[in-house]
Amino acid sequence: MRSVKVPLGNRSYTIKIASGLLRRLGRACSTLNFTGQCAIISDRNVAPRFANIARQSLSRAGFKPFLIVVPAGETAKTLDTVRACYDQLAEHRLERQSCIVALGGGVVGDLAGFVAATYLRGIGFVQVPTTLLAQVDSSVGGKVGVNLKAGKNLVGSFYQPRLVLCDLETLSGLPEREFRAGLAEVIKYGIIYDASLFARLEREMPKVLQRDPRILGAVIERCCRIKADVVGRDETESGVRAILNFGHTIGHALEAISGYGRYLHGEAISIGQIMAATLSKEVCGLSEQDVERIRKLFQRAGLPTHVELTARQRKLLLEAMRLDKKVRGGEVQFVLANRVGKVRWGERVPEAMIRRVLGAS
Ligand SMILES: NC(=O)c1ccc[n+]([C@@H]2O[C@H](COP(=O)([O-])OP(=O)(O)OC[C@H]3O[C@@H](n4cnc5c(N)ncnc54)[C@H](O)[C@@H]3O)[C@@H](O)[C@H]2O)c1
Ligand SMILES: [Zn+2]
Repeated sequence: MRSVKVPLGNRSYTIKIASGLLRRLGRACSTLNFTGQCAIISDRNVAPRFANIARQSLSRAGFKPFLIVVPAGETAKTLDTVRACYDQLAEHRLERQSCIVALGGGVVGDLAGFVAATYLRGIGFVQVPTTLLAQVDSSVGGKVGVNLKAGKNLVGSFYQPRLVLCDLETLSGLPEREFRAGLAEVIKYGIIYDASLFARLEREMPKVLQRDPRILGAVIERCCRIKADVVGRDETESGVRAILNFGHTIGHALEAISGYGRYLHGEAISIGQIMAATLSKEVCGLSEQDVERIRKLFQRAGLPTHVELTARQRKLLLEAMRLDKKVRGGEVQFVLANRVGKVRWGERVPEAMIRRVLGAS
């Protein structure tokens, strides 16, 4: 079994990566000294597939599991759903030594993590991510939260899980589009941190797309290691953690102006990363050759690499970028690449240059 430690002092935890881990969930929870009731929070797509396996495993280990099913998709990530979860936790008399299992993609992980962070002022939770995006990104690092009408992830906290179980078997039924969207984050790790991961993806993209468990396990482990290292150095994003936002300033703005429906997050940041690479060429000398490698890899992963924008959409996109949470003192800051595997953060880019790149996209 592959395992990665997230080093955060007495809040450190392990990410385990292997096939069949869900069946061992109960034993893993016992090892963490949880007892009694255990709430599994899952969504309407994931629960019918995997909740029974989770429940049986927990029962076998002596827990009293119960299931909370929330609607699937981004629209479930609200305070209304949080309240519905609290009510069910109270009904089942969850106690401080009980645990919450987040069984699903990033939506369930963010929501269940926020519920765990706040119910009884915090009870332990375990992440069982079932999308590629959740396994390489959202289940690691402790950002939990929900959306408001005014914007995504506006309410939340940093609250680390006690354990993350990435069961590779759960990925086999993931819709193709969701799988490819997760690859946008995988490629991101190559660009920001690891030229050899990037090169491996260039060599092995067909096998990755076939979800070959051997390669997938190795790639997911590498991504988790990078995220664990970055989060271990800067848990609350006052510095280096910002590099994880490569391509996200433009990507988030694209999601916002297209009404959070047209693009999946991974698709928006695929376009965002290519635009960020183009900006990097102008600002910090990323070679034309590297820009092309980046564009090609996203293309081979079946992700969108291009968007036609009208003048009005360009204006909206710039406005949306200025509204991004990460803006400091009204100035849009970017993560830019010097080369594949090496980025800088907090880069100011003249607005005229952003306009030029958006126009040329
Ligand atoms: N906390 C963080 O650090 C962080 C980082 C990145 C993204 N996020 C958040 O993650 C969310 C996106 O996560 P996501 O892409 O996993 O989306 P998601 O949770 O909506 O899952 C995508 C879809 O796949 C379905 N699904 C999940 N697992 C499945 C499986 N194994 N088989 C079949 N269907 C399955 C879900 O029901 C859903 O319809 C966003 O809300 C985003 O804000 C958080
Ligand atoms: Zn992302």
